[in-house]
Amino acid sequence: MTPFPSPEEAARLALDLDRGVSLPASWYTDPAVLAREHDRIFRRGWQYVGRADQLARPGDYVTGEAGGVPVVVVRAEQGLRGFVNVCRHRRHLVAVGAGNGTLLRCPYHGWCYDLDGRLRSAPRADREPGFDPTGLSLLPVRVDGWGPFVFANADPGAGPLASTLGDLPDIAARNGLDFAGLRFRSREGWRAAGNWKVLLENYLECYHCPVAHPGFSSVVDVRPDAYSLHAGEWFSAQTAPARSGAPRAAYDAGGPVALAQYYYLWPNLTLSTHPGHPNLAVHVWLPDGPDHTRGFTDRFFPPDAPEEFVRALAEFTRQVVTEDQSLTASVQLGLRAGLPERGRLLPRSERLVLHFQKLVLRALSAG
Ligand SMILES: [Fe+2]
Repeated sequence: MTPFPSPEEAARLALDLDRGVSLPASWYTDPAVLAREHDRIFRRGWQYVGRADQLARPGDYVTGEAGGVPVVVVRAEQGLRGFVNVCRHRRHLVAVGAGNGTLLRCPYHGWCYDLDGRLRSAPRADREPGFDPTGLSLLPVRVDGWGPFVFANADPGAGPLASTLGDLPDIAARNGLDFAGLRFRSREGWRAAGNWKVLLENYLECYHCPVAHPGFSSVVDVRPDAYSLHAGEWFSAQTAPARSGAPRAAYDAGGPVALAQYYYLWPNLTLSTHPGHPNLAVHVWLPDGPDHTRGFTDRFFPPDAPEEFVRALAEFTRQVVTEDQSLTASVQLGLRAGLPERGRLLPRSERLVLHFQKLVLRALSAG
């Protein structure tokens, strides 16, 4: 496979990014680029699949996907184990959803695996001379965690999640993000027009907020001197105070959480906390072809969160999402034209967009 981009092209693109010139439009529309991203980014990156509270008891399991690979994470004797959730027999998916059991039983022909992934039994196997279940274990995947979040990685050579997280847990904790008081409330799946990078780049700047999000900007102080951007190696953070004395705020942002916080973790996870009562939304963004994105959002609140706050915040975020989806759908139409081939970004206000594009370039250029 010819390297994409070539080392010369990658060096040129990196210099361009330094002066605010974006990645080429074709990177957002070309199926060949998406295929490369699949191999170099999603097949190698840590993917949030479930929560520690779903995996508290021996035999608990949760299913998800990591880089297009169906995975199952189980609580075995020795701790959390992750497997490719595909039967060694005819490649049917083994586990569905989440639950608890002493064995994972494939629903197709009944092959049973123990919680360490070993093939324990296969109907009629005793009638087959020389059938040897050793060597037919579920294939392993890496599992790791951050706070209440369980991640899987389809790349057996992946480094620990901690090296992707870097200082992110410390920074989030310093900003007051406290997972301990939060409980899972709901998961919502979604799909939107726009390349996955278009959607994430929109998440990574609030330059558009005063123009495109009047409601949001009435609650969060989006002025450039109040809204702070921080880039780590593989993550970034945006924080901003709630506006004080907003005359017509979209919801009541008074409460113990003073800062709006928007965290991004390579390659496709974001965590959003809005000011007011404690709240957290965790979003996973996945490519669905070059020009659409699908994903899910897990929401967390304290068990005693006021229902009125939960309802008002849901309405507030729905409004922001509706506005964003119209923006990103339009960007995708513009990118499809391929003209202009490159965009001109503002290196200060869109620092985190450029940071993200550099990570994409780095990942696609890597051998
Ligand atoms: Fe937005």
